[in-house]
Amino acid sequence: EKGGYPTFMEKEIHEQPHAVADTLLGRTDESGALILDDLRIPEERLRRVERVTIVACGTAAYAGMVAKYAIERWTRIPVEVALAHEFRYCDPIVDESTLVVSISQSGETMDTLMAVRHAAELGAMTLSICNTHGSTIPRASDAVLYTHAGPEVAVASTKAFLAQITACYLLGLYLAQLRGETYADDAKAVLRELHAMPERIGRLLGRMDRVREMAEFMADTRSVLFLGRHMGFPVAMEGALKLKELAYIHAEGFAAGELKHGPIALIEPGQPVFVVVPGPDTPHDLHRKVVSNIQEIRARGARTLVIAHDDDEDVEPFASEVVRIPPCPPMLAPLLAVVPLQVFALHLASAKGLDVDQPRNLAKSVTVE
Ligand code: F6R
Repeated sequence: EKGGYPTFMEKEIHEQPHAVADTLLGRTDESGALILDDLRIPEERLRRVERVTIVACGTAAYAGMVAKYAIERWTRIPVEVALAHEFRYCDPIVDESTLVVSISQSGETMDTLMAVRHAAELGAMTLSICNTHGSTIPRASDAVLYTHAGPEVAVASTKAFLAQITACYLLGLYLAQLRGETYADDAKAVLRELHAMPERIGRLLGRMDRVREMAEFMADTRSVLFLGRHMGFPVAMEGALKLKELAYIHAEGFAAGELKHGPIALIEPGQPVFVVVPGPDTPHDLHRKVVSNIQEIRARGARTLVIAHDDDEDVEPFASEVVRIPPCPPMLAPLLAVVPLQVFALHLASAKGLDVDQPRNLAKSVTVE
């Protein structure tokens, strides 16, 4: 049942091209409109959405953070991302014009379910992005967009994360279309590029040998930091979460711009730091800014483990290691950049002799508050 892989997690990491492809499959009608699996919200009401609030926990919340950048860019609708357990108790400001999007692999996470119920009581429209057919959260929601990652057995979420991000892109394009315009990027071009992502993820998975060696070499490491900007920020957070839950190593993700506001004090000679570098054509000159962040920490002795696009030569002088990802449009890069971080956590945990499918103290779905 592990399909020849030693663990479910490794199998699921390798299923990621399919998870993305299947989530895209048959999603648009002849007019290009997104097909929701279950839509109990009149389109007229969806067209008038004034704000989006995403509620989720853990890895699903990081998918939500990625979604915020894409949905805001394409629709200019303000998007807020709330941890579901915080949302419920902060007297959230939502009303009939708010679309509350929950993201959950299991569809059974109690914190997320309670947030959705709370939002519905306040009159919001609720949409569930979920991987499990017929589970509780989609049943409690007005609309459902299923991710088609297939069953995820390993406790640590991998393929569901990529499928969630994919579904969020579709939602962003759909909302843009309902409103009759995409503010940035051509929707058709984005869809075309999205369909090219499974092949790129597959290609990337074929070159993970060095990441595996790095992980095995670092089996005694006590702490790893992760840096990213823009969409690379949630990717960094997710990389840190994977390492905590699988390898029981202290790991922390930061927005790279935050470095000089505190975390740079943590940098001492030999400190490993992963840096997610955006593609050279990322807006706002972010590529150059991240390269100078790498330079800053390298000057203080950090071991810089850099994730950069194939054609990016600028990182070479400051990188202890470079992990190359295939080039892709900036907004879609999280689907690639997170993969080496998953693989790294998997192999570091394995090198420590840990059970990667069933880490200590964790359950696959958290059905208590
Ligand atoms: C991380 C992980 C958890 C889940 C979180 C939400 O690898 O598995 O952080 O992402 O518990 O679970 P779902 O998506 O089932 O609501």
